[in-house]
Amino acid sequence: MTKIITLNKFNPDKNIISQAADIIKSGNLVAFPTETVYGLGADALNSNAVKKIFAAKGRPSDNPLILHISNINQVKNLAYENAISKKIMNFFFPAPLTLVLNAKNIIPEVTRGGLDTVAIRMPNNPIALALIEKANTPIAAPSANLSGRPSPTDSKSVFNDMNGKIDLILDGGGLTDIGIESTVIDVTNPEKIFLLRPGAMPVEIIENFLNTKILTPDNSNDNSNQDKQKRSPGTRYRHYAPSVPVKIFNPEIFDSDFQNSGFIGLHKPDNFAFKKYVIFDNIENYARGLFFAFRELEVQNINSIFVELVNNSGLGRGLQDRILRASGFSHI
Ligand code: TXA
Ligand code: MG
Repeated sequence: MTKIITLNKFNPDKNIISQAADIIKSGNLVAFPTETVYGLGADALNSNAVKKIFAAKGRPSDNPLILHISNINQVKNLAYENAISKKIMNFFFPAPLTLVLNAKNIIPEVTRGGLDTVAIRMPNNPIALALIEKANTPIAAPSANLSGRPSPTDSKSVFNDMNGKIDLILDGGGLTDIGIESTVIDVTNPEKIFLLRPGAMPVEIIENFLNTKILTPDNSNDNSNQDKQKRSPGTRYRHYAPSVPVKIFNPEIFDSDFQNSGFIGLHKPDNFAFKKYVIFDNIENYARGLFFAFRELEVQNINSIFVELVNNSGLGRGLQDRILRASGFSHI
């Protein structure tokens, strides 16, 4: 049986954080909230502990994990930094932004999915930061869902996927702040920064700060195979999918399935009647509530979930990516 303990996000109880840190230090798993989604954490430097993450999620072993840190000074022991990575970390961290750097040997193969690189992020959530600090080790944490399922944005969703598989869930109360995962960029080459996964941090903000364009593996200038291979390994797999099919809503095309289906979006369609609706009033709330809406609707005895697309800029780029992937499309 997995225990859930609720904490005050702004002032987490020190005794509970200590208990949770002890579980991490002993090589076991704790789920915890971040500002993006819930993470399933283990000591990133302990390969046996990290193997338990892959087992609990049913995650393919070639899909590397993000190391969560509580202090920028930790990075020098874990990865080879450069001027750009330092500049980004100093300005943004803690943030819903993950940097891929060349890895130092201290990081076990299993944590980095056999790659030479490692992904690092400092989450902007006091519970997460307190846990990492107290555990006194970087915490490897993928989203705390079963592999392929929507990422959990509340503790109940973590429980539904992980009950009996992990010791403890720290509950931060309600939904996580942003609701989609961090943006992942590869900064191993300061001359060519790649977007590996759009996400919670709008790419435009990073581009404005650096005054440089961020490339996608598919449309970088020389389009070499090497660049294409920079795609994040995780983006190869089916993701974020609830147990009923997700379809992209096209207001031009009537589908007889509408009346037995759910609808998620920003605008309730005028001309068609759906069985269930989840309507958000702005893009931030849409991102925050999408995964929870998937989990809410999948148990409502419906055939499909039709989802409205959004503008592909700012937070919309990450949200669009999640919607498309949930529906089975693969793109970046
Ligand atoms: O917001 C988030 O990033 C959440 C919270 C818990 O921090 N975590 C998360 O982890 O989304 P996960 O494992 O579900 O997704 C990590 C992504 C995957 O697409 C993975 O392939 C990529 O990061 N990644 C990790 N290490 C990498 C590396 N060395 N090179 C390229 N991509 C990497
Ligand atoms: Mg995930």
